[in-house]
Amino acid sequence: MNKPRETFGSRIGMLLAMAGSAIGLGNIWRFPYTLGQNGGAAFLLLYVIMLVIICLPVMISEYLLGRRGASNPFRTFDNLAPGSKWRWIGSVAVLASACILSFYCVVGGWSFKYLFEACTGGLMSYQGSYADFFGAFISNPWKPLLYTLLFLGLTGLIIAFGVRKGIERMSKIMITLLFVIIVLVVIRSLSLPGAGQGVRYMFVPDFSKVTANTCVAAMGQAFFSLSIGCGCILTYASYVHKDENIAASSGWIAFFDTSFAVIAGLAIIPAVYAIAQMNGVDPDVSAGPGLVFITLPGVFKSMPLGGVAALLFFLALMLAAITSAISLMEVVVAYVIEELKRSRLHAVLICFLLCGGVGVFCSLSFGPLDGFKLFGLSVFDFFDYITSNIMLPVGGLLLAVFAGWRLKRANYLDELTNGGKLNIPRWLCLTIYYLVKFVAPLAILLIFINCILS
Ligand code: TRP
Repeated sequence: MNKPRETFGSRIGMLLAMAGSAIGLGNIWRFPYTLGQNGGAAFLLLYVIMLVIICLPVMISEYLLGRRGASNPFRTFDNLAPGSKWRWIGSVAVLASACILSFYCVVGGWSFKYLFEACTGGLMSYQGSYADFFGAFISNPWKPLLYTLLFLGLTGLIIAFGVRKGIERMSKIMITLLFVIIVLVVIRSLSLPGAGQGVRYMFVPDFSKVTANTCVAAMGQAFFSLSIGCGCILTYASYVHKDENIAASSGWIAFFDTSFAVIAGLAIIPAVYAIAQMNGVDPDVSAGPGLVFITLPGVFKSMPLGGVAALLFFLALMLAAITSAISLMEVVVAYVIEELKRSRLHAVLICFLLCGGVGVFCSLSFGPLDGFKLFGLSVFDFFDYITSNIMLPVGGLLLAVFAGWRLKRANYLDELTNGGKLNIPRWLCLTIYYLVKFVAPLAILLIFINCILS
């Protein structure tokens, strides 16, 4: 138990692991349909604003606290504010990660199934409507459970190899492959006749669709996509060397993540527009969670080389999902290893059983349990909603308050500049600090209040 704590092996490995955490289903599955439901370009604009004034400062703080505390979320807060109640907030963060993983692995399982079907040719040769295909699969009482558990098992297997040999190595391979694949799919999508309309939808804003809920959706999406607010970045940061430039790495990760969301949007939305135009129907990009699993297979089927595009696309979806699931599981695993004093393998097993158990309920809420509601939402939607739209922003708020008010200003700036060694302009450090101290917490509060009142 007294082995030295593991660290990432190289800077690029660390960046790709963090980018792997950020880039995931959030970018490829959730972003395009949330964009579609909230009016396209106007949402994108709001998203970027949220990212810069709220999420990036929170991310820098989570990173900074993680590296300074050098432990799991619970112990980190205890190290930084010994004996205070803050460590319980660390434990809630661990719980939030477990909740996210529980519904995340269900969608990961769906991607697995689609990848499998795309490989065997079953997806493209299917004759009925894809809504039926998807509906029949997710409501089946046992098939989706199998894929969910397979997905979770694969994630656990990678984590069992440890930080360098498992997480870092697999993230490096998977994220590189992911970029190559998605670029190929974008080229295919943009080269379809009529794709331009979809591009316009993504980049020309229509503000009439913006409401208080759009703001919450944009904020929730930004938190979810950057993996902040529940100890994920904090846990990865605890494996980062002391000489790393936190502001620069956070900036890069946010940049990769946002570019990837836009790229994934470009892979999907223009293709949906082009094929709708070809078939003489209205494009529907607000199809919700079914966009990727119902609309898209139909789009692939209608286009030349669609089978290859489908295979590549679902491979990308699967790779993206796994690298993110790894980061979620690692939060829980690090906690179990360090606080409950278990071996890594044992911790992985505990996490598999816990999240797999809840995941089974999330998955069943599309089938046998679909009549069962929590606060009017299905089990799956409930976990998605309370984590992304409530727990993550509240987690982010608390992280910002801790970093801005509990940590001394000198310590914050010291950690940001590695004891003054890094040449970061002072105005930039101070801007980040004040964004964290005042702007981010206030903005999060205002958005919540506005949403409750409206
Ligand atoms: N960011 C990932 C995605 O976009 C999901 C994810 C991984 C996540 N770790 C997280 C979301 C922590 C919230 C918090 O798919």
